[in-house]
Amino acid sequence: MIAVACDHSALEMKKVITDLLEEKGLSYHDYGTYTADSCDYPVFAARACQAVVSGQCDRAILICGTGIGMSMAANKVKGIRCALCSEPYSAKLTRMHNDSNALALGARVIGPELARMIVETWLDTEFEGGRHQRRIDLLTALENGQLLE
Ligand code: RB5
Repeated sequence: MIAVACDHSALEMKKVITDLLEEKGLSYHDYGTYTADSCDYPVFAARACQAVVSGQCDRAILICGTGIGMSMAANKVKGIRCALCSEPYSAKLTRMHNDSNALALGARVIGPELARMIVETWLDTEFEGGRHQRRIDLLTALENGQLLE
């Protein structure tokens, strides 16, 4: 199950992404926003990310104007590793190396075809594990307030 969320600037892009998820036969839950009324992206990032950390959803896709606010909000949620991507190379590598469980996109930055390519790449790429797991563990330690050196 994929959690999807956006703010008012990204309703059209969210539709592009949910259409893609449907084409791929993947189920999703849409955590809003649902209207073009101005809203606050942290609220919607939090809803989708909490669904991931609670285990209700496997990963989250978050969209705002730049993707920056959504990614900042998401990375405040314990257990979330959110990557803001504007091209497929980063989308692939953030799965392979960072095991990102949330993807942020900027609806005012990239077009629909590029967004589809990024999401498809991110969904289809597996975490490599190995030495990268050690680094994920260090991220978790940082999140828990530990000093790394
Ligand atoms: C909304 O105007 C805009 O600030 C928001 O979508 C996002 O880009 C914030 O990072």
